[in-house]
Amino acid sequence: MHHFAYRDGSLHAEGVDLERIAAEVGTPVYVYSTATIERHYKLFEAAVKQAAPAGKAHVFYAMKANGNLGVLKTLGALGAGIDTVSEGEVRKALAAGIPAERIVFSGVGKSEQELRFAVEAGIYQVNIESESELNLLSKVASQLGKRQEAVFRVNPDIGAGGHAKITTGSSENKFGVSFEEVGRLYARAANLPGVRLMGLAVHIGSQIREIDAFEAAYAKMVALVGELKDEGHRVERLDLGGGLGIPYDIPREFDYGPGLIEAYAAMVGRVTKGLDVELGFEPGRLIVGNAGILLTRVLHLNPRPTKQFLVVDAAMNDLVRPAMYEAYHEIWPVAEPADGAATTAYDVVGPICETGDTFTAGRALPALKQDDLIAFMTAGAYGASMSSTYNQRPLVAEVMVKGDAYAVTRPRQSYEELIGTDRLPGWFG
Ligand code: LLP
Repeated sequence: MHHFAYRDGSLHAEGVDLERIAAEVGTPVYVYSTATIERHYKLFEAAVKQAAPAGKAHVFYAMKANGNLGVLKTLGALGAGIDTVSEGEVRKALAAGIPAERIVFSGVGKSEQELRFAVEAGIYQVNIESESELNLLSKVASQLGKRQEAVFRVNPDIGAGGHAKITTGSSENKFGVSFEEVGRLYARAANLPGVRLMGLAVHIGSQIREIDAFEAAYAKMVALVGELKDEGHRVERLDLGGGLGIPYDIPREFDYGPGLIEAYAAMVGRVTKGLDVELGFEPGRLIVGNAGILLTRVLHLNPRPTKQFLVVDAAMNDLVRPAMYEAYHEIWPVAEPADGAATTAYDVVGPICETGDTFTAGRALPALKQDDLIAFMTAGAYGASMSSTYNQRPLVAEVMVKGDAYAVTRPRQSYEELIGTDRLPGWFG
């Protein structure tokens, strides 16, 4: 379920007409619904808390999906922790008022500087992905006179996900320490001064809609927890990652409710039953995916002998998922189409100078004309957060809606900001 719907013939985000946002903020613009973000977070948190042994579960929203400060603040107010993957993300979580003790730091390539920043800030947990990182973390923390709580991210050799580029759990993928190595590394870590090992983490991929893949990986992790405990190690935490998928092909009136979340939580409960650990979760897409849209305006219609091109003002630099993962996003016209309106097959493309800048080919849409507004649906996750300035296009604006109010939570980048950060080499005089 989400809070984008037609009212009086025009698509609204909660109580705000998207026509109005386009007129006042310009296009392209991302628009996020506070109510949808809150709903998904609460649903997920309640479900996993209920499923976790003794109700001990912590949710760390994966901010890589959408790092807008307003989004982080909204989730922080609900008690969310944050899963980060860079110093920039740790800093942004702190800037959003998230307490350091609710921040997890993941990622295969943390630098010494990044680890130092995180340890100094006093974050809750570092998810260690290699022996080399273990050594570096211990060195950095002991230099600071600290002992950092950490878990090993394990590669379970079970990958899954909506696309090869977003599968992480296969042994062929770069992530985590291998299953066979964990025991030895755990024992080594006990002798290192700067690290306190608290448990394990796993994350097998993204946009996963089959519970079975999660279950297989989690069962392996639970067995590993048992083995490590038998060897006398402290294992108090099991971070089960993110990756739960969402429907991108949403019929207009369909309320897909909490079905998949419930199935996932029930499976987690089944697999971890009786285990004496605190569970962690790192959902990203699930929380913000369908809480956001990318609003764009039709610039030109370009009929050609075999195709009808619809050139819009958003491009692959603003929403790269179709170009990068062949991802599908629903397209809804902002002006509500009449029931049974005739459709035309459009290739919807952006202004960028490469053929990859194609959002969709041959999509049946109601007839559109120059200046019409359309919305790319389900663009709240990995939309703005993956945007760039390719072709010297300013980063798009972001807007949050709450009820009948909206606020620009990131103004469109100005041309001064876009160009003014370059520096000419001194030899130009
Ligand atoms: N935890 C870790 C360690 C991760 O690497 C990720 C995502 C998550 C949590 C959150 O996963 P989620 O719940 O959002 O699936 N740009 C791609 C998705 C990349 C996901 C990367 N890792 C896309 O647009 O589909």
